[in-house]
Amino acid sequence: MPSIEACLFDLDGVIVDTAKYHYIAWRQLANDLGFDLTHAQNELLKGISRMESLEIILALGGVKLTDEEKLQRATEKNSRYLALCMQMTPADTLPGVRAFLDELKKGGIKTGLGSASKNAKVILERIDMLSYFETIVDGNRITIGKPDPQVFLMGAADLAALPAQCVVFEDALAGIQSAKAAGMLAVGIGEKAVLTQADIVIPGFADFHFQDMEAAFA
Ligand code: BG6
Ligand code: MG
Repeated sequence: MPSIEACLFDLDGVIVDTAKYHYIAWRQLANDLGFDLTHAQNELLKGISRMESLEIILALGGVKLTDEEKLQRATEKNSRYLALCMQMTPADTLPGVRAFLDELKKGGIKTGLGSASKNAKVILERIDMLSYFETIVDGNRITIGKPDPQVFLMGAADLAALPAQCVVFEDALAGIQSAKAAGMLAVGIGEKAVLTQADIVIPGFADFHFQDMEAAFA
């Protein structure tokens, strides 16, 4: 097993719990169109881009919109989502994340962000985490979303790291698939039963340290 050179992090659900805000904003959009969006349906949207998420929601509600209407609704959803995100402070960073990133820095490991979100930089600024990442690959840079490996391959290239020496941290099934398709090691954040293709699964960073990662992939 080659030594670990870089760690690539998803944003939503890994660094910060923005999934609850996505859900509120998508649910409002569904309600405006005359149907509801359940929590379980919202799970299908994790890691999926804004416009693809909208297509899934419209299909769930059996609603057809023109391209112009879709753009309008997506813009409206994003404004609501961002207004909710603006309530966040650095204290909203998920437990243990900052400490784990500090440990990586001390250990000489490169760090990058790999997110489908077009709001990644705004959110990182909001929680004062922008400086923790040497590269940011977000929804504005990628041309094809997770589960395609592009987002993490771009991150590895930015950091001049070999994919086989990269570890990806992801809470979404599509994100784990993206990491594995890139030939990287994948740490699932969440439940084993959901993130079946991850190499290891942890509940979060609260009790996870640099040495635990090294031991897991030794
Ligand atoms: C992902 C989220 O990180 O980003 C998805 O898991 C979201 O739920 C996607 O749809 C795109 O986010 P944004 O901020 O560009 O609408
Ligand atoms: Mg995520």
